[in-house]
Amino acid sequence: MSDRLFIFDTTLRDGEQVPGCQLNTVEKIQVAKQLELLGVDVIEAGFPISSPGDFNSVIEISKAVTWPTICALTRAVQKDIDVAADALKFAKHKRIHTGIGTSDEHIKYKFNSNREEIIERAVAAVKYARKYVDDVEFYAEDAGRTDNEYLARVIESVIKAGATVVNIPDTTGYCLPSEYGEKIKYLMEHVDGIHNAIISTHCHNDLGMATANTMSGVLNGARQVEVTINGIGERAGNTSLEEVAMILKCHKGIGIETNINTQKIYPTSRMVSSLMNMPVQPNKAIVGRNAFAHSSGIHQDGVLKNVQTYEIIDPHDVGIDDNSIVLTARSGRAALKNRLQVLGVNLEQEKLDKVYEDFLKLADKKKDINDDDILVLAGADRTQNHRIKLDYLQVTSGVGVHSVASLGLNIAGEKFEDCASGNGPVDAAIKALKKIINRQMVLKEFTIQAISKGSDDMGKVHMQVEYDNHIYYGFGANTDIIAASVEAYIDCINKFKD
Ligand code: KIV
Ligand code: ZN
Repeated sequence: MSDRLFIFDTTLRDGEQVPGCQLNTVEKIQVAKQLELLGVDVIEAGFPISSPGDFNSVIEISKAVTWPTICALTRAVQKDIDVAADALKFAKHKRIHTGIGTSDEHIKYKFNSNREEIIERAVAAVKYARKYVDDVEFYAEDAGRTDNEYLARVIESVIKAGATVVNIPDTTGYCLPSEYGEKIKYLMEHVDGIHNAIISTHCHNDLGMATANTMSGVLNGARQVEVTINGIGERAGNTSLEEVAMILKCHKGIGIETNINTQKIYPTSRMVSSLMNMPVQPNKAIVGRNAFAHSSGIHQDGVLKNVQTYEIIDPHDVGIDDNSIVLTARSGRAALKNRLQVLGVNLEQEKLDKVYEDFLKLADKKKDINDDDILVLAGADRTQNHRIKLDYLQVTSGVGVHSVASLGLNIAGEKFEDCASGNGPVDAAIKALKKIINRQMVLKEFTIQAISKGSDDMGKVHMQVEYDNHIYYGFGANTDIIAASVEAYIDCINKFKD
């Protein structure tokens, strides 16, 4: 008989903490609904005390999603728990996730406390959360570096206090797989009452071992895994959902099953990447562009004879279909709507009409429109309510001459224009922009990326601009890379707080 592993998705909490990846509530609802279709058991929807935006998102996700448990994060602080309980009031199934650091480093430097006091605070937080909900998860932050004997005492105490799930985070991504597995085994063997709770893994990828550690935890008794789509998350990220789901599907002998509908993996990956403007590395396992591309002659020959020679996963099993690059200028609205639905995006008629209009404009410039292009177009009206918009841009540049740009902006309905020269077309365009928006802004980071292949491709630009001691993140996408750069800069400016 096979065992069931619960999938706890934290894309919208730990994943969303990545600078520049913040989503608005509407986008978070879109992701949450897709996670529901994907079959996750728990959605960590946010950290309600951290901001009104997070609070509101937990409320709206709770209303939008039916069967997964909605989880809200707190510190071991009563006010946090009060606010989380309030944010969860509309959830059909709800969980409070509370916890505290347990490693000596956290106890000493973060809390200026001692081991006994930390246990008292942990127990008090769990008991307090249980007043609001029946399902309370406790996290022992930095459990990866916490000594096992003390960790076992903490876990035993919180289970006695009413914790239903105990989370053992490798917060710093430090553990070796053998070490992490041993930790889970130790808890299974030394904690009285461990069978009254589910052990959860929560691994970070600082040393590239998040998935290996998670699997080691599962093999030693953990029955919940905390994961994110595409492995996004703080620093080097979290364990990626798609990797764990496919490991268990490929290795049936392990005898552990999840509720994940693996055919929804690829569309979910694309949606998250597109909404968060967070590219997926081409060689990323399962969802990277090259994950199923066999380029060496020997491999191609083998795959043509029989795919099983070099492929352990059928791309269809993760939702990669053969039609993923077929839309062209001749594709109709229905084809676009269908493709968007496959990618998990359901648009109302009015929005669909607008996206179709943009699609036709893009198809004029670019022969094949792929999934990434479509997702960028579907997200493009994020700029619709922006105060500052690019009206026009004209640039002349070449070798041996100065680049010159003239640029027009629409600022709250009023038109402004200026021109400037620079050492290249982007420099000239940004100088012209800065003549109109006269503020102390400094471009800190600038990344240009083609979405897929071909010289007619859409370019994506990510930027970081410093203004008034804050870093603002901007994004632009256009077949004209200079325009994409200016759009990304304007995106940053639109986020300025004053
Ligand atoms: O990495 C971590 O320790 C966390 C906890 C807050 C669960 O994200
Ligand atoms: Zn984490």
